[in-house]
Formats: sequence, structure tokens, C-alpha cells
Amino acid sequence: MRKDRIAAIDVGTTKVCTIMADVYNKEEIRVIGVGVTPSRGLHKGLVVNLHEARESIRRSVRMAEQMAGRRLESAYVGVTGRHITSINNRGSIAITRSNQVVSPSDLKRVLDVARSVKVPSEQRLLHVIPREYVVDGQGGVKNPVGMHGFRLDVETHIITAAVTSVQNLTKCVHSTGVDVEDLVMEPLASAEAVLTPEEKQDGVLLADIGGGTTDIALFKDNTIYHTAVIPVAGYQVTRDISIGLGVTFEFAEEMKKRYGNVMPVMEEEEGRGKDRDKNIAITGDGHSISYRDLSEIIRMRVEEILRLIMLELPQQDYEKLIPAGLVLTGGGANLPGIAELGEMVTRVPVRVGRPISLAGVSDMLDDPAYATAVGLLLWKMRNQDSTVTPAKDGALRRMLTRMFRLFR
Ligand SMILES: Nc1ncnc2c1ncn2[C@@H]1O[C@H](COP(=O)(O)OP(=O)(O)OP(=O)(O)O)[C@@H](O)[C@H]1O
Ligand SMILES: [Mg+2]
Repeated sequence: MRKDRIAAIDVGTTKVCTIMADVYNKEEIRVIGVGVTPSRGLHKGLVVNLHEARESIRRSVRMAEQMAGRRLESAYVGVTGRHITSINNRGSIAITRSNQVVSPSDLKRVLDVARSVKVPSEQRLLHVIPREYVVDGQGGVKNPVGMHGFRLDVETHIITAAVTSVQNLTKCVHSTGVDVEDLVMEPLASAEAVLTPEEKQDGVLLADIGGGTTDIALFKDNTIYHTAVIPVAGYQVTRDISIGLGVTFEFAEEMKKRYGNVMPVMEEEEGRGKDRDKNIAITGDGHSISYRDLSEIIRMRVEEILRLIMLELPQQDYEKLIPAGLVLTGGGANLPGIAELGEMVTRVPVRVGRPISLAGVSDMLDDPAYATAVGLLLWKMRNQDSTVTPAKDGALRRMLTRMFRLFR
């Protein structure tokens, strides 16, 4: 039996999650180490303090290593933030061989044409994902190799990221002695962990509501159609509570997680359930707040986030575009009632997506907040042939990272 090593680091705005795993026969993943630590030095998905971010990553990596009982050498790393842009681009080539049959080298050639799209110098390519191939004008082809034709086109989804943001992130990871195997845009990773093949086929919108950003990916006909990053998420919900009720941010965060609910507390419910009606008795700084005020504040902000998510859709005909509806994941999706509120606001089916469960010590990953980290592990396995991710670490970089590892 063939055994490979694989690892993922999700550097989120609120937590860093490292997962180490073994992959058997290139398909069965067994988790052997998990490390989750609160993150510092990040803002809206971006590294803003190198030293703090590095320390958070280091702690998370060490924790996973200790559990796994081995060193972490390289990992898939998630990228998010407002600096990420995406476009759909088409590439075309002529099939010049005398027999007019599409060969694997033609695929490579047409993808090269698609990825030669002009990228501003401050941006770099992150993904060039083939969505479909078109042979002599006939579209919807998933794999054209062996088909006859004179002309081959490819529709691609191209994702770029700011060079500096990516550099800061990789620098932090390298300085903990870990190589960056590949960078993956976060909602693509989350999608791997929570969406079903049927949903991707029918049309579905995924929204990962994290701490600093809400990351979006739209799938249709089993291919990625649109990706976006909205800079509003769980942090704003907590800040609203903090300002609205005049409590500290930490306290507001605790209130949100413990008592938060996005559905309004009904009049009759208040009358019926005496406990609900009562103000929450607060330990610590002596405040008391009602469920109703708390849920009102949370609901207003979450409603806004849900509307912003829907605004990302290229057209209004939701039933046709996303019959499978909206899937919410990320830590923010833990708010009770969010799926119900989502259906009221968006008028499409809404569910909360948890990452699929993996073998091994993965029970602690059963939370929407770990969708990205679990998805990073799945991403490469499932997209081996369909992504062209440029620029792996250079030889010098690898040597420096090894030196860091030795010093550890
Ligand atoms: N039980 C809960 N109820 C409500 N909110 C929660 C709960 N658990 C976590 N959250 C919220 O989820 C957010 C963190 O989510 P997540 O861990 O997915 O973010 P992240 O990956 O660190 O950040 P980002 O993806 O934005 O960089 C925080 O705002 C937190 O308050
Ligand atoms: Mg996240």
C-alpha cells in the first residue's frame, strides 16, 4: 500500500489550523495531527504583523507535530483577502497535427495561451482552472483528448493575488521551517470540504463566513464560475455587539458564542418561556443584556452579510443559477438560526456545511470553522490535473527553509 504525507495550514484571521495526515493509495486520508491556536497579526485575512503571525503559525504547527510525532516539512496553505481578483478567460489554439486529434500536449498549449492573460505587475497568478473545453465550437467538453477537431478553446477561471500579500504569508510559513507546497484560494478549499458533487453540478453558492472575511465561490455544471472575497464577517458581528451594548470586544465575543441567535425572539415565546424573557445574568463586568437585544444586533449584521453574498451573483434568476441554493460554512455559520434567516433573506434553500469527516483523529475538526483546513487537504487530491499553479518554492528558498527547520 502506498502511503504519502500531506499537510495543510489555514492561517485565518481568528485562528491558525494545521492538519497533518497520511494518504493511503492516493485517496484515503487519515489525520494524525491537528494544531489549532488563536491567530495574531492578521487583519481581514492579511498578515499585518509578521512577528505575531509567525508565532501563531509556529504554535499551531508545533501542536500538530507533537500530536503526529513527526516533523512537518511542507504544507498546502490557504490565501484570502480583498487583494484577490478573479476573471474568466478563454484561450484558443489550432490543432495542427495531420490527424487532427487533440493530444495532451494540446491541452497544455491551450492552457498556456489562457494563462498568458496580462496580469498587473503587483499581482501574481494563483490558479488557472479549466472550466470547459470547446472543440470546433462545441462546448461542454470536460476532457477533449482523443477528439477530432481543427480548433480547441478552453474556458478558464483565473485567480490572481497581490504579490506582497502572498509573500508576507509565505515568509511567515517558511520561517517556521515549513515549505509551501502550494497556495490555494480559501473558498476553493472550503468547497472541497463541504459541497456535494450534485450541488456543484446543479449550481450552488458557497459562503465561508470567517472572522475577517466572507469568502465566496459559485459552482455550476461541476465547474467554478465565480469567486470573491467580502471584507465583512464574524468580527463585525462582535464589534456591533460590543458597541451596541457597551461591552468589551472579548465579552461581546463570548456573549455571541454562548447566547447568540439570529432569529428574533418572538413576543409569545418571551411570554411563554420565562427564562428567555429574563435578562442574561452576566458574570464578570456586571452587565446584563436581554436575548432580544443581542439577537437583534446579530441579526441585522448577519442579514447584511447575507445580502452582500447574494449581490455577488452575476444574475438575479437564482432558481435557475443556483437550484442547490446557498451553503454557509466558516465559524460564523455556527450562529443558531442562520440557515432559516438565510432562506428568508435570499429565498433559496440554505444549509450549513460542515467539513466531511476524515479517518484518524479528526473528530475535533467537526466544525464549519475547519472547512478551509480540511478542504486544503482534499484540494490537490481532487484537482491534480485540473489546476496549473505556478511558482513553487525555488531551490534557494527551500534551502533557507531547511535551515530554519534545523534551527528549530
Ligand atoms: N459558536 C459560534 N457562534 C457564533 N459565532 C461563532 C461561533 N464559533 C465561531 N464563531 C465566529 O466565527 C468567526 C471565526 O470563524 P473562522 O474560524 O472560520 O475564521 P478564520 O478562518 O479565523 O478567519 P478568516 O477566514 O476570515 O480569515 C469568529 O468571528 C467567531 O466569533
Ligand atoms: Mg477562514
